[in-house]
Amino acid sequence: MSTFPVGLGKRPIGTIFSLSTITRISANLCTIILLFFSSQSFLDENIFIQATASENTTALQLHIFDQYVVMDNGILQVNLSKPEGMVVGIQYQGIDNLLEVLQDETNRGYWDLVWSAPGITRKKGAFDRIEGTNFTVIVETEDQIELSFTRMWDPSLEGKMVPLNIDKRFVLLSNSSGFYTYAIYEHLKEWPAFNLTNTRTVFKLRKDKFHYMAMSDNRQRHMPLPDDRSAKRGQALAYPEAVLLVNPVEPEFKGEVDDKYQYSIENIYNRVHGWISNDSQVGFWQITPSEEFKSGGPLKQCLTSHVGPTTLAIFHSTHYSGEELIIQFGSNEPWKKVFGPVYFYLNSLVDGADPIQQLWEDAKQQMNNEVQSWPYYFPASKDFLSPNQRGTVSGRLLVHDWYVTNDKDVPGNGTLVGVAAPGDVGSWQLECKGYQYWTKADNNGCFSIHGVRPGTYNLYAWVPGFIGDYRDVSEIVVTPAAGCDVDVGTLVYEPPRTGPTLWEIGVPDRTAAEFYIPDPNPKYINKLYINHTERFRQYGLWERYADLYPDNDLIYTVGVSDYRKDFFFAQVTRKTDNNTYNGSTWQIRFKLDNVDKNTTYKLRIALATAHVSELQVRINDPDAKNPLFTTGQIGNDNTIARHGIHGLYRLYNVVIPSVELVEGNNTIFLTREMSVSPFQGVMYDYIRLEGPPSSSDNNDIGFSS
Ligand SMILES: *[C@@H]1O[C@H](CO)[C@@H](O)[C@H](O)[C@H]1NC(C)=O
Ligand SMILES: *[C@@H]1O[C@H](CO)[C@@H](O)[C@H](O)[C@H]1NC(C)=O
Ligand SMILES: *[C@@H]1O[C@H](CO)[C@@H](O)[C@H](O)[C@H]1NC(C)=O
Ligand SMILES: *[C@@H]1O[C@H](CO)[C@@H](O)[C@H](O)[C@H]1NC(C)=O
Ligand SMILES: *[C@@H]1O[C@H](CO)[C@@H](O)[C@H](O)[C@H]1NC(C)=O
Ligand SMILES: *[C@@H]1O[C@H](CO)[C@@H](O)[C@H](O)[C@H]1NC(C)=O
Ligand SMILES: *[C@@H]1O[C@H](CO)[C@@H](O)[C@H](O)[C@H]1NC(C)=O
Ligand SMILES: *[C@@H]1O[C@H](CO)[C@@H](O)[C@H](O)[C@H]1NC(C)=O
Ligand SMILES: *[C@@H]1O[C@H](CO)[C@@H](O)[C@H](O)[C@H]1NC(C)=O
Ligand SMILES: *[C@@H]1O[C@H](CO)[C@@H](O)[C@H](O)[C@H]1NC(C)=O
Ligand SMILES: *[C@@H]1O[C@H](CO)[C@@H](O)[C@H](O)[C@H]1NC(C)=O
Ligand SMILES: *[C@@H]1O[C@H](CO)[C@@H](O)[C@H](O)[C@H]1NC(C)=O
Repeated sequence: MSTFPVGLGKRPIGTIFSLSTITRISANLCTIILLFFSSQSFLDENIFIQATASENTTALQLHIFDQYVVMDNGILQVNLSKPEGMVVGIQYQGIDNLLEVLQDETNRGYWDLVWSAPGITRKKGAFDRIEGTNFTVIVETEDQIELSFTRMWDPSLEGKMVPLNIDKRFVLLSNSSGFYTYAIYEHLKEWPAFNLTNTRTVFKLRKDKFHYMAMSDNRQRHMPLPDDRSAKRGQALAYPEAVLLVNPVEPEFKGEVDDKYQYSIENIYNRVHGWISNDSQVGFWQITPSEEFKSGGPLKQCLTSHVGPTTLAIFHSTHYSGEELIIQFGSNEPWKKVFGPVYFYLNSLVDGADPIQQLWEDAKQQMNNEVQSWPYYFPASKDFLSPNQRGTVSGRLLVHDWYVTNDKDVPGNGTLVGVAAPGDVGSWQLECKGYQYWTKADNNGCFSIHGVRPGTYNLYAWVPGFIGDYRDVSEIVVTPAAGCDVDVGTLVYEPPRTGPTLWEIGVPDRTAAEFYIPDPNPKYINKLYINHTERFRQYGLWERYADLYPDNDLIYTVGVSDYRKDFFFAQVTRKTDNNTYNGSTWQIRFKLDNVDKNTTYKLRIALATAHVSELQVRINDPDAKNPLFTTGQIGNDNTIARHGIHGLYRLYNVVIPSVELVEGNNTIFLTREMSVSPFQGVMYDYIRLEGPPSSSDNNDIGFSS
């Protein structure tokens, strides 16, 4: 065994290091180790590592072989291919490999992306399982090993290779029952344009061990085997991801539907998910300590874990949002972003009752620890900013709606406040290139957003119970000065409002969850979602509309109907005998005792999602050639097929001249046009009719008709 100074010099292949024999750092002393690396600009590193060492941690070991590199902290061992940086093995608790040994080594634990070059119109883009070409040890101390696997763009491969430099990092800390991974993507100014559709990390676990999946207290279950999805045992339904289990290995799954989209979740709630091996009493968890690097803000939904057994950390996808979320890079656009770190946490029980409950509770505890530790201090890339290079944005946000809040500024309940790249009202839900930071305001409307990277932002917010989106027009500049705090003072959101509420349907909370969610067709159930708070995750609910309304479309009568029972959660297509699809026209009937002359009323339509639809509004004349209002073609969210209850939020403010209305009974006709597939439709979040303005003020704001 030979030893070398930390981080310097070459080492013979195959040498096994015990770091404790390399550097001695005495307990309770902070030692600063300076590492210099010089290569291409992308890899330039001036790293200051504060290494606090403890006498009782197991020595970290780094073993470098010809084609593999193994990190070991005495708790687990991570084996990566070199220089590709694919995780080929994870050894833990005497289990030789937690990853699926039946899979090829390049198909067990990896980063990938989907991209397209200019002029390529292929819908899906090209899939790239990112293989490094260069391997570098970035940090080797008693407390940390950090490895880098890089791949530089090769201009001779223009059009065939995504124009990005990619640096994949893997970090093992001492006394840490898991490992971290993050990556830095960089597009230089002079490089060609391209689109980025998707990027993520994927871990495929052993199917002979991991059978129980958990993602929240009430979303966890014993899962089918991947074999059950094969043509021999399963039957693909309306799309290949949804499979009816016809002849599963374990008979208990017979008759259930398996579909990975039933396990999607919003970024804000996507903190920990993974798998338990009940036999080995071992858990494998993906923990996301922050959503700062995720696309589309806190409400963007992504996949989590699913039958495989597979666990994903998705950084960017178009799911539940559509093409609008494809990240488009111009040919003159420098860009760099750090995705992660995310943590892969392993836990185990020596023995004990109810391993599932204990491992899940422990995983949640660890998740809380990681969230508390964010921003991490340890990542060595200078592109990941340490806590003291970041700032705080704080203030107070109140809401003022003269009709609802009695002409007072009041704190909202559940207000979400965030900073994201400057843009239009609501633009954060499409923002993917930069970083976003969100928090919930407290009961007084006060908020404090920590760990914000230096940069220029707008402040955005929305308040459950009120329509629209708040944006503060002034730009917020977080400077690189240590401890930079920006206090924005007290801000007041005045949601769109012109007249008093004459009636309303639903709750403005950006979802359709409060409306009528039908029972699934008994042929297509997922037992997890029977009698569940998220029953909308059942397969095939879109077909239930025609079952419930076979002859006539939905009619909602204000004052008589109850939106929880009488307002179907999605205005979907109706299948005809021909296997074609029809649109539908829903009616809202309401009575006006009197109608003010020579004025306007206002119809607020907040949509929770839309998929290739045009929504038209007519008043009192269903056959009017021209609708009073149309959205035009909107939406690509694909939320209906994916069992979501919301996608992108859209608010329409429709002006109704009083001549359109009559004293007595009126009807609003909502016609949804464009029908070629079962998955088209809209979900309403909330509908409201406002009377004429009480004053001459028109305080409408929001992105509107
Ligand atoms: C190691 O980690 C465990 C669990 O997080 C913790 O209880 C313990 O104090 C740590 N030990 C050392 C020496 O840091
Ligand atoms: C060091 O760790 C071992 C095993 O976890 C434990 O038994 C021992 O008490 C620890 N020693 C100190 C000084 O913390
Ligand atoms: C790392 O994985 C390779 C490929 O499976 C294997 O040959 C090698 O023995 C592993 N190394 C260790 C130390 O587990
Ligand atoms: C990127 O995607 C947009 C929207 O789908 C498309 O219009 C554009 O042509 C694409 N650009 C490239 C470079 O692929
Ligand atoms: C690999 O890294 C070395 C220095 O660490 C550098 O000289 C070389 O150009 C890199 N090769 C590639 C293909 O990136
Ligand atoms: C897990 O194993 C325990 C025995 O250790 C058993 O009682 C329990 O039913 C198992 N749970 C599942 C979901 O397989
Ligand atoms: C705030 O909202 C939560 C969740 O919607 C609700 O349970 C709670 O009662 C509300 N609190 C107040 C003070 O309205
Ligand atoms: C549904 O859940 C409620 C409350 O948890 C329970 O009382 C009821 O029995 C359940 N119904 C079915 C059919 O499981
Ligand atoms: C579909 O729409 C056509 C044209 O409006 C209509 O004639 C037909 O009856 C509809 N079919 C169903 C099943 O609703
Ligand atoms: C069935 O399809 C034919 C040809 O496209 C069309 O003429 C006819 O109206 C359709 N019938 C129904 C009930 O939609
Ligand atoms: C009100 O009446 C005036 C004069 O007849 C007309 O110009 C105006 O358009 C009317 N406004 C509305 C909202 O109907
Ligand atoms: C108005 O609507 C109500 C409720 O649907 C109905 O009972 C009543 O007959 C209608 N009145 C007229 C004049 O159509």
